[in-house]
Amino acid sequence: MDQDGYIQRAVCWLFVTTVLITTNHAAVVNIKTKGAKGDGITDDGPAILRAWKEACAGAAPSSLLIPPGTYMSLAIELPGPCTGPVEIMAKGATIKAPPELAKFTKDSWITIRNVDRLTITGGVFDGQGQETWKAKKCKDTTSCQIPVNLRLSKLKNSLFKDITSINSKNFHIALRGCDNSRVENVNIEAPGNSINTDGIHIAKLNGLNITNSKIGTGDDCISFGEGSKNVHIERVACGPGHGFSIGSLGKYPNEEPVEGIFLRNCTITGAVNGVRIKSWPDSHPVTVSNIHFEDIIMTGVTNPILIDQEYCPHKTCKKGAPSKVKISNVRFRKIRGTSAGKVAIKLICSAGVPCENVEVADINLTFNGGPSTSECYNAKPKVVGQNVPGVCHA
Ligand SMILES: *[C@@H]1O[C@H](CO)[C@@H](O)[C@H](O)[C@H]1NC(C)=O
Ligand SMILES: *[C@@H]1O[C@H](CO)[C@@H](O)[C@H](O)[C@H]1NC(C)=O
Ligand SMILES: *[C@@H]1O[C@H](CO)[C@@H](O)[C@H](O)[C@H]1NC(C)=O
Repeated sequence: MDQDGYIQRAVCWLFVTTVLITTNHAAVVNIKTKGAKGDGITDDGPAILRAWKEACAGAAPSSLLIPPGTYMSLAIELPGPCTGPVEIMAKGATIKAPPELAKFTKDSWITIRNVDRLTITGGVFDGQGQETWKAKKCKDTTSCQIPVNLRLSKLKNSLFKDITSINSKNFHIALRGCDNSRVENVNIEAPGNSINTDGIHIAKLNGLNITNSKIGTGDDCISFGEGSKNVHIERVACGPGHGFSIGSLGKYPNEEPVEGIFLRNCTITGAVNGVRIKSWPDSHPVTVSNIHFEDIIMTGVTNPILIDQEYCPHKTCKKGAPSKVKISNVRFRKIRGTSAGKVAIKLICSAGVPCENVEVADINLTFNGGPSTSECYNAKPKVVGQNVPGVCHA
């Protein structure tokens, strides 16, 4: 290489590096530079929103930095679309919601929507829900205006990592339309008697993996609503709570099918239910298929394996008329441990559309040191391997 060529290349390299460093630098928007106080009292929501607008519109990839500290924020909505990928960096930061329900007019606290390739890393989101649960105002979540801690909607190809959600007033994390995304190393905590505090609620999305997480709460650890497709759950520890639950389905007309749920290598401890599929009686038609529960360790779970197509918790439904939710291709495999209820396997399928192709394999669930029992209605499970309890040959 001659000297001119060398100098030209060096100058060019220097130029490119400078541009890269400058844009990278400019693209980190610290909420403190947008007026956040971080005293845990002042509403820092507006500062977070200002920082979001700048990061979202900025040259990609850009990020919003919430530096370590304690912040308070009223309800905020961070909308996309953004110029490109955005990262919210909240490692070491705690964000608290005001405890008073009266300060909320919608059913979400922090909403983020319509972003392609969003990353959230770190952050403790404290919903301060204690007063709200005590008031027991809300028996039926669908008619509630009680805020969900994190409402993540239409965030495609995204990653949510190292997040902690505590004491949400309602669901902790609600994911909808977040296709092809991942949740990793999330920690969710609320007391076992807190009301409607589902850990992660999933609906209307295709392709989601949840791994290496810990969920202890007052309702379902993970609930799968309509249109949940291709969801892989691995190494999630659940309990206390109501377990992993598909449904309730069939309450509304035209719900989307649930298909392709793979739950592996999880533990469920001290929960009311283990793995469950539930639907309302007298329901609208919808299908649930290709559901796999495998390699699960249960400790002191009241209803470890449960299909309940007569789910009717608040007596608001017509019992007697069968569910029209069709359940097929379900596998319960290698589920072991202790049941806190006598009936460890309960398959209550619909008299109208009986369950099809349910496999029960290599189960070992003991009750008080002895065998538990099983019950099946409108299901003829295929039984594989050695099972404790023996499956439905009563
Ligand atoms: C989720 O996990 C499955 C199975 O391990 C894998 O095939 C898929 O690519 C993963 N999806 C994402 C979005 O990481
Ligand atoms: C389950 O996950 C643990 C780590 O949490 C791992 O050591 C183990 O090999 C996994 N087991 C299976 C059957 O995948
Ligand atoms: C079931 O588990 C109990 C307690 O761990 C054990 O003693 C028993 O041998 C197991 N039975 C089978 C069939 O695996």
